[in-house]
Amino acid sequence: MNPSSARPAILLARAIFPEVVDKLAAHFDVQANQADELWPPDELARRLQGKQGVFTTGSERIDAALLRGCPGLKICANMAVGYNNFDLPAMSAAGVLGTNTPGVLTETTADLGFALLLAAARRVTEGEHFLRAGHWDRWACDLLAGQDVHGSTLGIIGMGRIGQAIARRGALGFGMKVIYHNRSRLPEADEAALGARYVRKAELLRSADHVLLALPYTPEARHGIGAAELALMKPGATLVNIARGGLIDEAALAQALREGRIAAAGLDVFEGEPQVHPGLLACANVVLTPHIGSATLRTRKAMAHLAADNLIGYLTESRALTPLNLEALNQPTP
Ligand code: DGY
Repeated sequence: MNPSSARPAILLARAIFPEVVDKLAAHFDVQANQADELWPPDELARRLQGKQGVFTTGSERIDAALLRGCPGLKICANMAVGYNNFDLPAMSAAGVLGTNTPGVLTETTADLGFALLLAAARRVTEGEHFLRAGHWDRWACDLLAGQDVHGSTLGIIGMGRIGQAIARRGALGFGMKVIYHNRSRLPEADEAALGARYVRKAELLRSADHVLLALPYTPEARHGIGAAELALMKPGATLVNIARGGLIDEAALAQALREGRIAAAGLDVFEGEPQVHPGLLACANVVLTPHIGSATLRTRKAMAHLAADNLIGYLTESRALTPLNLEALNQPTP
């Protein structure tokens, strides 16, 4: 709490929409970052002194080391559905609530997944580069021939909200046969409504014409798609990742793409982003986008408002809309 006022103080770790800054300023003493500086952890900790809440994006790591230095912090509101930047057990132990922004970005992110799938399988960006470079001097029967998306088999790994939205696009819009793998199987009625069949991961990799990753990133899931998994995939297959870069061993993927062991990839996320593995940059058969899965203005505003509403709800009425660790916070201390 700022001693000069009765209002809680909060920090916005990144630049956000001015309308959302104004909304928060109606409730809090706000320290904003409209210059969008990227603060290293010690600078973030310094700026968090005296703050009860922080508005974060996936770029800010909230862990035990940071929390030790910020005893007044009560809530970290992430403007993202993924929250692998949060060490949730450490936050629970420190009595800090984490929130994310599920639901509001589902369809927008699924759209980008499908865009990457179509662009990679049908060699759209490769074709554009070819044309712009002045190489197009005649029609040829196999010029930039790719793989069909309609009527093919789509394998989705991670069947949460976004995975299901992709399944609907594939089954209803493109007549695809949909198979999926997930930590837990969906209820039969949901599988029937989606027209999706549960299979083991190895079977999915062997049978799918196109594999799409939409699963949450955890340390156990790191490099879940590596050389061994890529070797199971069909030679004409496409791999799309709209979840988190660390799910794929990028060096192994670059090698598989270079050697034509799979046909193409579409990647929106990268393990060391904003750095991209040089092997991937060197491959023509990969479509690369800079983590824009949820990037439409309408959706990004909906995400920012939901994160702001979580801060307002929790710090003014002890109620957050989309809490991640409320149960753990409410456990009596042993
Ligand atoms: C998310 O919401 O998790 C997206 O990847 C944006 O960061």
